[in-house]
Amino acid sequence: MKRLKNPFYNRDIVSIKDFQRPDLDYLFHVANEIKTSLPNDSLKNKSIGLMFLEPSTRTRLSFESAMNSLGGKSISFGNLSDSSTQKGENLSDSLLTMDQYVDAIILRHASEGVSRYASEICKNPIINAGSGSEEHPTQAMLDVYTILNECGKVDNLNIAIFGDLKYGRTVYSLLYALSNYKPNIYLVSPKPLQLRSDPLIELKNTLNISVHENLQDIISDLDVIYTTRIQKERFPDLQEYERVKGSYKIDNNLLTNAKENLVLLHPMPRSDEIPGEIDNTPYAKYFNQVSAGKLIRSTLLHLIFTENPSF
Ligand code: NCD
Repeated sequence: MKRLKNPFYNRDIVSIKDFQRPDLDYLFHVANEIKTSLPNDSLKNKSIGLMFLEPSTRTRLSFESAMNSLGGKSISFGNLSDSSTQKGENLSDSLLTMDQYVDAIILRHASEGVSRYASEICKNPIINAGSGSEEHPTQAMLDVYTILNECGKVDNLNIAIFGDLKYGRTVYSLLYALSNYKPNIYLVSPKPLQLRSDPLIELKNTLNISVHENLQDIISDLDVIYTTRIQKERFPDLQEYERVKGSYKIDNNLLTNAKENLVLLHPMPRSDEIPGEIDNTPYAKYFNQVSAGKLIRSTLLHLIFTENPSF
């Protein structure tokens, strides 16, 4: 195969909207190569800085473990209470400090726009590991990769995005990533948790989207259900949260009408929207998603730091 130009070299990964179909095809092609032959010391002189200013399990562990597997190093900002943030240090000074010590920064923050800002002030690449309820681009990359692996394609699939569509940032990044393909999208949520209207209008230009309140009505059409938890921490008014909490769920009863090869995904963490009993069904693929997280992030790090990879 002809060597392709690496579109990720020295790039910020701030928004999934900065990447198009050829970029995703390239990423997934290299991921498939890396899966069988990990270039295990390719990053031995590189380091990343983990700045997770919101809780994280999978994203943080997968970046750290990806970097370890590639022979690189990671340092972390630790938690806010241990850092000079406690002494009133502003975010730009913390970012610029980290920028002196590492070759790329992995940043998670509760505010929208912070990753873009960081990419403007830092000399090294910024990888957005979640910005408020706005975006989570690397999660979208691994979500699409998982769909491709589980279903063999994305085009013409009936994909439901189910749950808190208003505040779930993974939902927005995934929808923008899917707009590079031709799936049929079913947005399913209680009314107060519907997708925000501006992105919905924008996404309708490129995606075939229908809006529903009830999964039961459409379950037999679906190839993929991507469920998200209620984002309690993003509700401006806790009473609003109290009104919708526990209002949606996948259960065995619902799944009796599902297609045999339905694929159930969830970016995790989950609360009660996918109970543990579902883990034993053949539909549950969310831990395959977790595993794809390390592979896709290893691939991204390898590509950000390696101008001409040997793939
Ligand atoms: C998600 C996030 O942080 O947006 N988690 C993740 O990175 N896999 C989803 C969530 O918190 O609900």
